[in-house]
This record gives sequence, structure tokens and C-alpha cells, in this order.
Amino acid sequence: MTQETLYCRTIKTLVSNLRTMKSSAILLALYSVAVVTSSILRSDVVEPVAANQEVDQQLDPAAWGSDHVGQPIPEFVSGDECLFCHRKDIGSTWSDDPHATTVRRLESEKRDAWASIAAIKKPAADAEFLMGRDRSIRLLKRNPAYGSLAILSARLLPDGTVIDDNRAEGSDVHWKGQEFGQKCAGCHATAVDHATESFSALSLDCYVCHGNASLDHSNDSSTIHLSKKRDDEARVVISVCGQCHIRTGKSRSTGSPFPNNFIAGDNLFRDFEVDLSDEAIAGLNPADRHILKNIRDVVVHGVSKTTCLSCHQVHGNSSRKHHRVLKSPLCLDCHYESGPKSKRKSYEVHSKLCDY
Ligand code: HEC
Ligand code: HEC
Ligand code: HEC
Ligand code: HEC
Ligand code: HEC
Ligand code: HEC
Repeated sequence: MTQETLYCRTIKTLVSNLRTMKSSAILLALYSVAVVTSSILRSDVVEPVAANQEVDQQLDPAAWGSDHVGQPIPEFVSGDECLFCHRKDIGSTWSDDPHATTVRRLESEKRDAWASIAAIKKPAADAEFLMGRDRSIRLLKRNPAYGSLAILSARLLPDGTVIDDNRAEGSDVHWKGQEFGQKCAGCHATAVDHATESFSALSLDCYVCHGNASLDHSNDSSTIHLSKKRDDEARVVISVCGQCHIRTGKSRSTGSPFPNNFIAGDNLFRDFEVDLSDEAIAGLNPADRHILKNIRDVVVHGVSKTTCLSCHQVHGNSSRKHHRVLKSPLCLDCHYESGPKSKRKSYEVHSKLCDY
């Protein structure tokens, strides 16, 4: 039952109470109207993925919208241009945003530190960029071919441990020229062209989430995705975030683990295939699991009230908003039945795709 229908029912009850009941009952009814009204007015409280009738739906995730699969990458407005006008609201936090720094320049002192580790000494001296943080760090350098990167075969932990799970017997840590373009770029760089494995920018630009924006949005901000005025549908939001945060999917057209020319506003699921079965989701770590559960609730069960944005604030990199989402089955991936104030479940995040 939605809050609105609850509200209407309460008013009906009140009216019939006025006709038939004593004043104490009327007071009680007035009280309940006040409670329901105040909860409607507290619009920051988001109704969760509830165990209600909506969940019985079985929708086809691919059955709406359109896509840009196989089309050329459009010429989009770059982040520097966006920040010319959005320096104040976005610029102050953007340079530290994990999305803005998925691939970042390696300072020479850091490079020297990595190059002092015996197992990677020689190749690390050529490294120009790095990706990753506290779980896994990868070094990269420019490929001779413009627009692509080579990745070092080994991964590093922040304390300098070198791990090379995929090393063929007898081979040393080495640069892999194709791996980044074929397996990583789609989610760690911007606007990947499948045919050439090149991309438009290192790290993630505004384009990946806000789409191919027209500058007319400065007059009418409903023309740009994820603006307040536009208020995108849940399935549109889920597609935007899911293009990278689904780490168990595959493009039907290219076979890559990332989408083929997805542009915000598209239906991701027309070309991107993902196993949303109970078994597949149960096998994930809680971090990847809460994402796929939320996505399944929206695209299969048609629940539209809770999306990533109910809990996450991208600019400012905060998930504090999630405290205000009403209790739902989704909470139990990280919290115990006894509630959020008690100890949390601890979990580790690993990803076969990202090699950590
Ligand atoms: C489908 C999109 C996708 C692809 C393809 C992908 N990644 Fe990732 N990667 C992510 C996402 C999303 C995260 C952040 C996950 C999180 O924080 O829970 C991530 C995180 C990482 C991290 C950060 C670990 C840390 O220290 O926090 C590294 C390193 C990484 N990926 C490496 C790779 C490499 C190497 C490849 C290619 C072999 C790759 N990824 C391919 C989406 C992808
Ligand atoms: C990883 C996805 C993502 C990227 C990349 C991204 N944004 Fe956003 N942006 C959002 C979301 C989501 C919102 C909506 C705010 C909300 O609901 O939390 C938003 C909101 C905004 C707003 C509205 C003001 C606000 O704070 O709510 C502006 C302006 C904006 N973004 C500009 C930019 C610019 C400029 C860039 C590039 C430098 C950028 N965004 C990159 C996801 C992104
Ligand atoms: C010429 C200046 C200018 C440029 C360049 C520009 N914007 Fe804007 N943008 C505005 C103005 C003005 C508004 C409307 C004011 C407002 O509502 O905050 C706006 C609004 C927005 C909003 C919606 C804010 C909200 O209220 O939710 C987003 C998102 C956004 N811009 C993102 C971008 C992105 C991404 C780029 C680059 C592709 C960009 N802008 C480039 C001026 C600009
Ligand atoms: C183009 C790919 C891409 C898109 C689109 C994208 N993300 Fe991410 N996101 C990443 C990667 C990659 C990381 C990990 C960055 C790293 O640690 O290097 C990440 C990290 C995060 C994190 C973890 C931040 C942290 O502090 O560890 C959150 C939360 C997140 N993204 C939410 C979102 C939401 C919400 C959306 C949709 C509005 C979104 N992302 C869209 C690729 C993407
Ligand atoms: C009910 C609230 C809620 C919803 C809905 C939600 N998240 Fe989260 N998510 C959280 C909380 C809380 C955390 C843990 C915050 C932290 O680590 O600071 C988290 C963690 C994450 C992380 C980091 C995981 C890690 O440790 O590596 C990523 C990435 C992420 N969420 C992405 C998403 C995306 C994408 C969606 C939408 C498909 C989404 N979340 C939906 C609440 C939510
Ligand atoms: C992906 C993991 C994750 C999910 C899902 C999640 N939480 Fe949390 N929650 C956290 C983490 C991490 C913290 C501690 C950091 C913080 O306060 O945000 C936390 C803290 C909280 C707190 C503050 C507790 C305190 O002691 O102050 C509340 C309240 C809360 N969560 C409620 C919820 C509710 C309600 C849901 C479901 C709608 C939910 N959480 C889903 C990870 C999660």
C-alpha cells in the first residue's frame, strides 16, 4: 500500500468516524491523519523495496526504451567545459571523487617507490598511471597506439606486496598491451570505441552519468539526465549506474564484460546480459549483491521507489542518505535483524572481473 492510498483510506475512516463515533475515537482518527500526513511531508524518507504486491511482477528488463549499440561515439561536451560553469557546485569535490580518479597519473616519487620492489623493478620504472586503492593497485603506461593503455600483469597491495595470480609458469611480470582496452576500459575510462579499443578520456567524465548533454540545459535543466527537474525514472537511473556496477554481465553484441556504447537514457538491458537469478545473486559478496538486488527489484519486479540514489550521493561521495531509507530486505546484506544500531556484518569485496 502506498502512502497516498493509506492517506486516502485514513480520511475515509475519519469521515465515517465523524458520523458514527464518539469524540475520543475522532481524536484518535485525527491523530492518525497527522501521523500519516507528517510522514508524507517528510519526503526525504524513501520507501524501501517493500515486500508488497509489486514484487510479484516479472517484467522483461529489455522491453522498454532504446540504445546506441554499435553506433559511433558522439562528440560530447567534456568535463573541463562542464566545470567552467559548475566549478562551484561540483568542482570543489570532483577532483577527489573516486569516479574522477579511476585512472590517475603516477607521481615520480610513487613510481620510484614501486620500482624499488624487486619483482616489478624493471617494468615499474616505465609506469605512468595507476588505478585502484586499498584492495588492489594496477600500474599502466601508454601504448604506442594513441588512445589505449598497457597494464602491468601483476597487482599490488598498498603495502607493496606483489600478487601475480595469472602468471604463466616461468614468465615474469610484464606489460599486457590489449587487456585494458578489451577487459577494463569500459568501466574505468570514458566512451570506449569497441572497434579500436580506444577511449575519449582517462577516468570517468560527466558524460558517463549525465549523457550526451546539450548546453541548452542551462535554460531548461530538465533536458539533462540526473537533474532534479528531470527526475529520471528508476530504470533509467539503474541503467546508468549498472553500466559499470554490474560486474557479472556481458554485452551480447561484443562479448565484452562492459556495455557497447551505452549512453545515459538508454535501456542497458537490451544489449547487456546479466544473470539476476537468486543463485547468482546469493553467490556475490554483500557489496555487489546489494547492487544487483536493487537492480532486479527495479527492472524485474517494477519497484520504483528505491534506487542507488536513495542511498548514495555521488557528488560528495556519501552514503549517509541511506540512514533515512525505511527498513527493507536490502538492509540485511549489511545489517543484522536486530537493527542498524547494533554491530554490522563485516564483509570482503573481491571481483574476478577486476582481478582482486
Ligand atoms: C563492468 C565494469 C567493470 C569492468 C569491465 C572492470 N571493472 Fe574494475 N571496477 C569496477 C567497479 C564498479 C569498481 C568499484 C567496485 C567497488 O568499489 O565495490 C571497480 C574497482 C576496481 C579496482 C579498485 C580496487 C580497490 O582497490 O578498491 C581495480 C584495481 C579494478 N577495478 C581493476 C580492474 C581491471 C584490471 C579490470 C580489467 C581486467 C577491470 N577492473 C574491469 C567496474 C569494472
Ligand atoms: C558517477 C556518475 C556521475 C558522474 C560521473 C557525474 N555526475 Fe553529476 N550527478 C550525478 C548524480 C547521480 C546526480 C544527482 C544528485 C543526486 O540525486 O544525488 C548529479 C547531480 C549533478 C548536478 C546537480 C547538482 C547537485 O549537486 O545535485 C550537477 C550540476 C552535476 N551533477 C554536474 C556534474 C559534472 C559537471 C560532472 C563532471 C565533472 C558530473 N556531474 C559527473 C552523477 C554523476
Ligand atoms: C554555460 C554554462 C554551463 C555549462 C558549460 C554546463 N552547465 Fe550545467 N547548468 C548550467 C546552468 C545555468 C544550470 C541550471 C542552474 C541550476 O538549475 O542549477 C545547469 C544545470 C545542470 C544540471 C542540473 C542541476 C539540478 O538542478 O539538478 C546538471 C546535472 C548539469 N547542469 C550538468 C552539466 C554537465 C554534465 C555539463 C557538461 C556536459 C554542464 N552541466 C555544462 C550551466 C552550464
Ligand atoms: C562508467 C562507469 C561508472 C558509472 C557509470 C558509475 N560508476 Fe560508480 N564507480 C565506478 C568505478 C570504476 C568505481 C571505483 C573507483 C575506484 O575506486 O577507482 C566506482 C565507485 C563507486 C562507489 C564507491 C565509492 C567509494 O568511496 O568507494 C559508489 C558508491 C558508486 N560508484 C556509486 C555509483 C552510482 C550511484 C552511480 C550511478 C549514478 C555510479 N556509481 C555510476 C564506475 C562507475
Ligand atoms: C538501501 C540503500 C542502498 C541502495 C539502494 C544502494 N546502496 Fe550501495 N551502499 C549502501 C551502503 C550503506 C553502502 C556502504 C557504505 C560505505 O561503505 O560507506 C553501500 C556501498 C556501495 C558501494 C561500495 C561497496 C564496496 O565496499 O566496495 C558501491 C560501489 C555501491 N554501494 C553502489 C551502489 C549502486 C550502483 C546502487 C544501485 C544499483 C546501490 N549501491 C544501491 C547503500 C545502498
Ligand atoms: C552495502 C551495505 C549496507 C546496506 C545495504 C545498508 N547499510 Fe546501513 N550502514 C552501512 C554502513 C557501512 C554503516 C556505517 C556508516 C554509516 O553510518 O553510513 C551503516 C550505518 C547505518 C545507520 C547508522 C547506524 C548508527 O549506529 O548510527 C543506519 C540507521 C542504517 N545504516 C540504516 C540502514 C537501513 C535502514 C538500510 C536498508 C534500507 C541499510 N542501512 C542498508 C552499510 C549498509
